[in-house]
Amino acid sequence: MDFENLIEKEIDEKRQGETLSLATVKNGGKKMYIESYGCQMNFSDSEIVASILSGVGFSTTNDIEKADLVFVNTCSIREKAEQTIKKRLQVYNSIKKKKNPAMVVGVLGCMAERLKEKFLEQEKLVDIVVGPDAYRDLPNLIRQVDDGRKAVNVILSKEETYAEISPVRLGGNGVTAFVSITRGCDNMCTFCVVPFTRGRERSRNPESIVKECQQLLADGFREVTLLGQNVDSYLWHGGGLKKEFKNLSKKEQEESVSFAQLMEMVAKVSPELRIRFSTSNPQDMTDGVLHIMAKYKNICNYIHLPVQSGSNRILKKMNRGYTKEEYLQRIEKIHEILPDCAVSMDMISGFCTETEDDHKDTLDLMDKVTFDFGYMFKYSERPNTPAQRKWKDDVKEEIKQKRLAEIIEKQMAHSLLRNKETIGNTYEVLIEGISKKSTEKLYGRTPQNKVVVFDKKNQKKGTYVKVQIQDCTAATLKGKVI
Ligand code: 5AD
Ligand code: SF4
Repeated sequence: MDFENLIEKEIDEKRQGETLSLATVKNGGKKMYIESYGCQMNFSDSEIVASILSGVGFSTTNDIEKADLVFVNTCSIREKAEQTIKKRLQVYNSIKKKKNPAMVVGVLGCMAERLKEKFLEQEKLVDIVVGPDAYRDLPNLIRQVDDGRKAVNVILSKEETYAEISPVRLGGNGVTAFVSITRGCDNMCTFCVVPFTRGRERSRNPESIVKECQQLLADGFREVTLLGQNVDSYLWHGGGLKKEFKNLSKKEQEESVSFAQLMEMVAKVSPELRIRFSTSNPQDMTDGVLHIMAKYKNICNYIHLPVQSGSNRILKKMNRGYTKEEYLQRIEKIHEILPDCAVSMDMISGFCTETEDDHKDTLDLMDKVTFDFGYMFKYSERPNTPAQRKWKDDVKEEIKQKRLAEIIEKQMAHSLLRNKETIGNTYEVLIEGISKKSTEKLYGRTPQNKVVVFDKKNQKKGTYVKVQIQDCTAATLKGKVI
């Protein structure tokens, strides 16, 4: 496992910048090309965009030179993510000049929301700017551009969850799919741009979630990942913002649906359908969720539980809402209720004022938990976040890098240790496809989200097999079907 991979693996590094394609051409009409960056939510949103535009006659293509409409679904989480998008826009520019002068370029997602009209000034090439809550307006905006005007809609919504829109499944493996359950985030971690680009938190109607999962099962999918910035905070109370819950009557509050209840509803869709979820927040994860996970075999024993730092002083400054000790208690509870549950984290090195002692606390927390996996980043100051407004980004780049390297080194050792513990064990693996390294091998994942490679016989993609683990690296397990 190389360092780059670990550092930049936002969610699924392999899919970054992936071109999504729709197989059928409708209407013989116009073609759109869409590239997605950033978190799983962006990939899921691109499928919603494809659905909205297929409704007005657009098909998708993965040949940018033949596209009438080119979209890039953007990420603002770190400066590097935004730089990647800017470089892509330069590439689009030269394609437009040399090969496809008529192409219309649209920017979607978090960067569109952050920069708004400024995008049109900064990037002359861009014709359309659309924030994450305004995708239903795309047909109008495209019409506006056809009439010769530039178009912007970056209005954030109190209601929008795209609940009844059936995403057009793009670019995936036909076995695993994302299902969004909440939008926005109310947590206001001081380093994070997401509350500003994706707005306030709202939950999606549970019936529409269950229906989407039933449809996925009928279409041959065997795993869903329930998506939200903070899934444990899911709360359906008839629609609208989460913060409005407290204004409801006692009866209305009692009739609401929590994340644990939603998970149970989805788990009952079929024992053949695996359930995953991401992302969890330490202060919102209830024991109730852990008990539901224990009750249903098809809910995978894997929790992505970002920690960000092991120093109480830094956690407070980040507004994370828990201490190191409380985080460790959560981990203990997870292992008590779900003894074979894997846990991964997100960690940030070099947040404002972080000292060597704070960093040691982070390494100490890692030693106490021994995470199965980690996504690790250097702090990147984001414009207009509370941290940017209040404090200097005062940890030197070399120090951030050195601390990050130490965190990564430790995590690699821990990942290897955790993977070695699986040798000799047998896991139920859902086959996702042919291994990228060898056509003679298949790959899938254990419930604990570990990738397993094994010899191909006559097993089929989308089926479950029992695999005994024989060997491993820090990144992958190797096994045999038994
Ligand atoms: N700098 C570095 N990493 C960040 N993350 C969020 N904001 C920033 C930032 N400004 C990381 C956090 C979060 C993950 C999705 O991205 O670790 O959990
Ligand atoms: Fe950002 Fe914190 Fe919300 Fe995650 S929980 S999206 S880090 S504000």
